[in-house]
Amino acid sequence: HNNTVEVVPPTTTISDVSYDLADIDWDSLGFAFMPTDYMYIMKCSRGQNFSEGELQRFGNIELSPSAGVLNYGQGLFEGLKAYRKQDGNILLFRPEENALRLTMGAERMCMPSPTVEQFVDAVKATVLANKRWIPPPGKGSLYIRPLLMGSGAVLGLAPSPEYTFLIYVSPVGNYFKEGLAPINLVVENEVHRATPGGTGGVKTIGNYASVLKAQTVAKAKGYTDVLYLDCVHKRYLEEVSSCNVFVVKDNVISTPTIKGTILPGITRKSIIDVARSQGFQVEERLVAVDELLDADEVFCTGTAVVISPVGSITYLGKRISYGNNGVGVVSQQLYSALTGLQMGLTEDKMDWIVEL
Ligand code: COI
Repeated sequence: HNNTVEVVPPTTTISDVSYDLADIDWDSLGFAFMPTDYMYIMKCSRGQNFSEGELQRFGNIELSPSAGVLNYGQGLFEGLKAYRKQDGNILLFRPEENALRLTMGAERMCMPSPTVEQFVDAVKATVLANKRWIPPPGKGSLYIRPLLMGSGAVLGLAPSPEYTFLIYVSPVGNYFKEGLAPINLVVENEVHRATPGGTGGVKTIGNYASVLKAQTVAKAKGYTDVLYLDCVHKRYLEEVSSCNVFVVKDNVISTPTIKGTILPGITRKSIIDVARSQGFQVEERLVAVDELLDADEVFCTGTAVVISPVGSITYLGKRISYGNNGVGVVSQQLYSALTGLQMGLTEDKMDWIVEL
């Protein structure tokens, strides 16, 4: 008799997409720098526009000891991530927002900046050249670090005569050593991150150097990081060393309003939209430090930290705890919504994802 067997392909959830992966331990990524294959470099003179850039093998760069960035801190950075989707495609999250923020910062720091198109094209080229460093789905992301700096020599204080735009990338996992577990913050009463009229609202490198001391002291005392207050009243929340902050009370989610001293985070902005679309009332306003006392939940947002739930905040020696030692429900819900979009697991109704 006829003995033919119909061959039915097995249904499987295991992806049959194969891709070249760097030979590293993908299960132990934290937020440490790891060199990759290529970096992107583009230069221009003061008064000119950026035109042509190129990919180069990743390595050290040469700078005059008199470079503006080294002597007077004329430098900005950006941060964004690429995720690998289950089907092998690569996703970027709102890269044009980073381009626009860099342009605003460049204006403040008297630097030329690449156009949005140049920025996004350079990010894409750098990610594709370093494709084998993008973690498999669920293992992390490729952190993309654009830099813009005064690379020409100066001696007297003045804008640098030459500028370098550079992008490097590094595979990353969780930012804080706590992983996805709640972090413990301490409110800083002496050191301030930013001043009215200063550069707190742009991503200049000096904003980050200036908080290293408070951060180091806090870490030595066992805290994860520092929450800064405004320098005028010492009363309103500003941000954490590397991220923005949100306070949840009932159905209302509040975050410090952008007023020149707070970094306009792209994750911050996205979470405001996501939370509103889920029915929360979101308020951008002055948030007084006393409100921490009766908040239901507190969480931080940033490209590097994604959404980090806060387990406790210590203010004037008093420890306030949140979320019953676990992750609060609102933080969890927003984390799932945001990462679902970023990783390509949910439909991108906002048109935020750029697929490579
Ligand atoms: C980011 O979240 O991407 C940042 O640029 C913050 C940095 C301190 C890691």
